[in-house]
Amino acid sequence: MKEEQARILQLRKEIEMHNYKYYVLSNPEISDFDYDMLMNELIELENRFPELSDENSPTQRIGSDIDKEFKQVTHKYPMLSLGNTYSEDEIMEFDQRIKKLIGSIFSYVCELKFDGTSIGLTYEKGELTRAVTRGDGNKGDDVTSNVKTIKSIPLKLFGNEYPNDFEIRGEIYFTHKSFQQLNTEREEIGEPAFVNPRNAASGTLKMHNSAAVAKRNLECYLYYLLSDELPSDSHYQNLVKAKSWGFRVSEYMKPCPSITQVLEYIKYWEKERNNLPYDIDGIVIKVDSLKQQRQLGFTAKSPRWAISYKFKAERVLTKLLSVDYQVGRTGSITPVANLEPVFLAGTTVKRATLHNADQMALLDLHENDLVYVEKGGEIIPKIVGIDKEKRPKNSKAIKFIEYCPECNTPLVRPEGEANHYCPNEDSCPPQIKGKLEHFVSRKAMNIGTAEATIDLLYKEGILKNIADFYDLKKEDIISLERFAEKSAENLIQSIEESKKVSFERVLYALGIRYVGETVAKKLAFSLINIDALINASFDELITIDEIGERIAKSIISFFKKSSNVSIINRLKNNGLQFAIDTLLQNKKTDKLGNQTFVISGVFEKHSRDELKSLIELNGGKNTGSVSKKTNYLLAGENIGPSKLEKARKFGIKIISEDDFLNMIE
Ligand code: IVH
Repeated sequence: MKEEQARILQLRKEIEMHNYKYYVLSNPEISDFDYDMLMNELIELENRFPELSDENSPTQRIGSDIDKEFKQVTHKYPMLSLGNTYSEDEIMEFDQRIKKLIGSIFSYVCELKFDGTSIGLTYEKGELTRAVTRGDGNKGDDVTSNVKTIKSIPLKLFGNEYPNDFEIRGEIYFTHKSFQQLNTEREEIGEPAFVNPRNAASGTLKMHNSAAVAKRNLECYLYYLLSDELPSDSHYQNLVKAKSWGFRVSEYMKPCPSITQVLEYIKYWEKERNNLPYDIDGIVIKVDSLKQQRQLGFTAKSPRWAISYKFKAERVLTKLLSVDYQVGRTGSITPVANLEPVFLAGTTVKRATLHNADQMALLDLHENDLVYVEKGGEIIPKIVGIDKEKRPKNSKAIKFIEYCPECNTPLVRPEGEANHYCPNEDSCPPQIKGKLEHFVSRKAMNIGTAEATIDLLYKEGILKNIADFYDLKKEDIISLERFAEKSAENLIQSIEESKKVSFERVLYALGIRYVGETVAKKLAFSLINIDALINASFDELITIDEIGERIAKSIISFFKKSSNVSIINRLKNNGLQFAIDTLLQNKKTDKLGNQTFVISGVFEKHSRDELKSLIELNGGKNTGSVSKKTNYLLAGENIGPSKLEKARKFGIKIISEDDFLNMIE
């Protein structure tokens, strides 16, 4: 037990150090796989010795499914906001005010103004004890369990130079990439998209399920320390120190001895902000010396020692030319505005998304309106308002369409949903093409073909649904415009290869509404084969983790349609995988009788997750790193040399994938 306790402490330290290197310094030292191995070993040890648990162990970052009502907490120091300026003149006035109060010997620090949601973190004896939102400035929500899932926020600090008790404040935000990923996933499962990264960040932070927060990749920059015992009189130096304790501090923070340098910093970032991977909405200018900060003090609402320069919203006025309606592969209708081309934040904008009927109604769009366009974290800009004074007289309100623009079928809007749909799944052209394209995509069947080829094969009447891929013959396609002997052969070969694609990906490829990659995996591993899924009742489906009513309803209605079932039968007859690997279906055995395995490297027949399941199904145990207690090292290709060396040193058996499969035959 002593030995395990030491190992647990060592693992926690090691994992937090890797978190710091990866999330704070952006300089990872080990592979994701090796990181997972350390984490698995720690999880396993903590499960075995619950008495050694620690609420700030890195394993706690996984979050929990328990629904929590947030406790309201009073801030020790009120969370004030900053005064805003919008012009150079106002910055000069700020500088003059300060000079009047403290004389001319002082220095500024300039920082980016992150556009997220603010957070106050309390650390006692080097451990995170509380995380509170701004709330009304005096009281906020205790969101500690959610904040613990953010990997760039340290749970325990490094070294011993930090104050015993202090608060550090910062901004929680989404990068553009994570924001887009989140919205794509939400659209996939029929949830409304977030309007901008800021709303997404504050919405996520207030979720009542920290396990769901953990999956969303929130990030955090820290910019303000509060304590009676800070190491330096310089705000800048204190933040540099905070970085060495484990906090993520912006690399763009800059000491500016004079107001001229402040203005240069502003000018630089006014342009350069378009190249940042996250949103900023201005620059924060702070007096560096804490002593001078205290001298300057606060007004009722904000500090006199700091101010923010807000960038003018990059927003342009342009004319609305028309509204198009795009039909997605699941029949969802997205309105898109065509605009008179206009230059905005580095690119020419011609189109803007209008999201859905509710958004359109909220804007109250009329024909030929002059509209304000803005760019947020999204690639496609959005219309944020209308100059109603410039609206031409008698211009008509634009109403959301009632019929599908492609096949003229009356649209439906399911209760409680934001989107309209075209229900003509079987013969609405963009829906069919969309389904074919989704089927071949990389994360689905990974069939090597271009969108234009699918368009052509559809137009020629060769492909009408996804099962038709498996009836394609070289002779059918070689005469077509885009094909030569070799390209036709390649396509047929790639289709043949796709028959090996695993069940969960086939399930995803079917394109059932709301069954994205993650949901497909859950369904596949819970129900094992397609027949169980086809026959599952609504009640059965909603008992599966992460499957809600909307998804369950969609699955039931998909399999109710005989045309879908007959497509699946054709795919089955063509040899596609409609069950989880037979080995994984085996009932539990005790063939591995408590033997401990370490898996490392890349394998030919099974993924590492599958091998792990096989070990557990057969009574064995998985651990992350090789120790004296390991019985087998299951070695794949590209296995790390240190693991091999350790295994040899301890005389541990090194086995191949085939050796392993023989053991459980
Ligand atoms: S300092 C006493 N620094 O802007 C004020 N704030 O209106 C301490 N913000 O609520 C705040 N980036 O959420 C500071 N580098 C930065 C900031 C920053 C963003 C936010 C913060 C605050 C708001 C001020």
